Amino acid sequence: MSEVGTDAVNTDELTRARRALQRGGPLVVLSGAGMSAESGVPTFRDAQTGLWERYDPTELATPGAWRRDRDTVWAWYRWREHLVSTAEPNAGHLAVAEAQAHRDVTVVTQNVDDLHERAGSRRVHHVHGSLFAHRCDTCAAPVDAGPPPPELVDRLAPPLCTHCDGRARPGVVWFGESLPEAPWEAAVTAVTAASAVVVVGTSGLVHPAASLPSLAASHGVPVVEVNPGPSGLGREVSVHLRAQAGQVLPALLDR
Ligand code: APR
Repeated sequence: MSEVGTDAVNTDELTRARRALQRGGPLVVLSGAGMSAESGVPTFRDAQTGLWERYDPTELATPGAWRRDRDTVWAWYRWREHLVSTAEPNAGHLAVAEAQAHRDVTVVTQNVDDLHERAGSRRVHHVHGSLFAHRCDTCAAPVDAGPPPPELVDRLAPPLCTHCDGRARPGVVWFGESLPEAPWEAAVTAVTAASAVVVVGTSGLVHPAASLPSLAASHGVPVVEVNPGPSGLGREVSVHLRAQAGQVLPALLDR
């Protein structure tokens, strides 16, 4: 871990944060797009790069966009799959996986990438779904869409479902859609039973996921936030470490 990271973080705050985690007991790591930023995966509200500069992600990640322009939305998700498959877990993902080796740690993530799993984390609950879980947009049967194309394209027809005349859609939760029940139930159970919650890299703007930290705090669970910038989280946060995930999580979660 780079010394610059912990030097940049106020050591008193890091000590207070570590103390909040040292009560023992189950820990929940709640991650957002900032967790994967140092792996080169743009956060949701970063300016989009290259081919997709002209699109607003909050426009593409909607059922309406799928109805209006399915092939553009599918191409955009396949590009994101390609981007994630060429990215590597960063020191933050690895620190979380390492902590699971010596402590009861549950990961609840808003991210649709697989970087927590590729870092070695088990028990990862994807409350906004997964890029790689393609399913039929009509009968919801899983669809094997195969690997994403290596080249960037701006329109692509999704493969046909093998059970009906539907087409494969991304296995993510779009704005306006409900969250998958099992991961959400697991997330609520985990944060209310936790001895501490670490919230990493989320703007805390999108509900209901953004309500998990205050749910934890309302149950007397200390909440530590890791985010170099401001976020929508407020008084529910006991300690805010203004640092990047990869810089400070190894020190925060170290045994
Ligand atoms: N380490 C930690 N935090 C970081 C880093 C980093 N290296 N880089 C950026 N951040 C922070 C930003 O300051 C920002 O607060 O990560 C946050 C990313 O916020 P968003 O882009 O809004 O992503 P997220 O909070 O995960 O979005 C929530 O909204 O768009 C929907 O479904 C989508 O899951 C997503 C949800």
